[in-house]
Amino acid sequence: MRAVVPIPRADAPSLYVHVPYCVVKCGYCDFNSFAVRPDDVEAFDRFLGALELELERRVRRPPRSVFVGGGTPTFLEESRFERMLSLVSSVAGLGPDVETTIEANPESVTRTKARLARDAGVNRVSIGVQSFDRDALLFLDRAHDAAAVSRAVEAFRDAGFDNLSLDLIYALPGQSVAAWRRDLEQALELEPDHLSCYALTYESGTRLTHRMRRGEVTPIDAEVEREMFETTHAILRERGFEPYEVSNFAGRGGPCRHNDYYWLQGDYVGVGPGAASHESGWRATNLKPVEAWCLALEAGLPPTGEAETLTRVLRAGEAIWLGLRRMDGVDLDAISARLGVEVREAFADEFAEAFDRGQVELAGRNLRLTDAGRPYADAVGSEFLVPNRAIRAS
Ligand SMILES: C[S@@+](CC[C@H](N)C(=O)[O-])C[C@H]1O[C@@H](n2cnc3c(N)ncnc32)[C@H](O)[C@@H]1O
Ligand code: SF4
Repeated sequence: MRAVVPIPRADAPSLYVHVPYCVVKCGYCDFNSFAVRPDDVEAFDRFLGALELELERRVRRPPRSVFVGGGTPTFLEESRFERMLSLVSSVAGLGPDVETTIEANPESVTRTKARLARDAGVNRVSIGVQSFDRDALLFLDRAHDAAAVSRAVEAFRDAGFDNLSLDLIYALPGQSVAAWRRDLEQALELEPDHLSCYALTYESGTRLTHRMRRGEVTPIDAEVEREMFETTHAILRERGFEPYEVSNFAGRGGPCRHNDYYWLQGDYVGVGPGAASHESGWRATNLKPVEAWCLALEAGLPPTGEAETLTRVLRAGEAIWLGLRRMDGVDLDAISARLGVEVREAFADEFAEAFDRGQVELAGRNLRLTDAGRPYADAVGSEFLVPNRAIRAS
């Protein structure tokens, strides 16, 4: 592969690499991921060949940060896992100054994979734990138990990782606040450097949502979910974690710079089946089926499935929607200057309504959620999405 030309990265896009394979397809998950047989090695080699082509064609300069996600990047067995990392490293020039995260699922982490990741220049790992409770893991269709989480953490620590993040899901049907506290405490016992805590969402088209529609699953009471959200923030603050985004808490490892850049509406190049990209108002999603994505790249065609260009006002609305998730909020003057849209005028009605409801406040130039608005970040933010405004007006 071609040599990397080092250039300053401050204004370079980020890179997202999508590995679409999983051991099982979890019932709640709407990511572009597929449960496949682990011995289908021809399919994996074809995937890696196509990934090489896309990386070579689309990564034109070293990215400011890298995130290898999925699916399950650690699903690939050791030699293919190593090849995947070396493909990324050869275009991205991974080094200590570039935040490089890999997602890992406990059941497929080995000590060798942890070491390979470290040697390739990965410096941050996000482990999908979700819960430590046997019944909760069963409900979520997870392929691991609590012991596998401890082994994965140990493997990454022993390989030299000092920035480990754990993903947890709360607000499961029937879950008590006490049960969620126990999960959180067990996660803290593993001394993570960062935590992501997501309320279970019922994404359309998932098995979980079908079960809910059939009445087999009853979502948790909204009041209990709010209490869990507030408990999470209170416990984690007390334990020295800084909530820098509604679901993300920085410990010793600091915030995830890759994700924070995304919430600041930064540009990113996404490679792999179904990966999304955004560059200065051009937004595209790759073809989602692995086969279709491979075929396009092998034929020398762009693997794009859908693309659109966004108007300035649409981008401004999205910048507010994304930025409101951050604890610091969103700098309105900076958006106006960057996009040439007077946001205070363009969204005057939306601002007035959110202020009236007590859900947002101004801190200098920054619009941010109040404590009352924070549990409803998505609902408050989506008021600024222009298509929603058009629907309300029609
Ligand atoms: C890209 S996903 C999956 C990463 C990895 N394959 C795993 O399962 O651990 C990243 C995180 O999003 C969260 N997530 C995915 N779907 C969710 C849902 N429907 N509701 C809440 N959190 C979800 C999970 O915490 C998950 O670890
Ligand atoms: S949650 Fe993770 S492991 Fe489960 S199907 Fe989605 S990407 Fe795969």
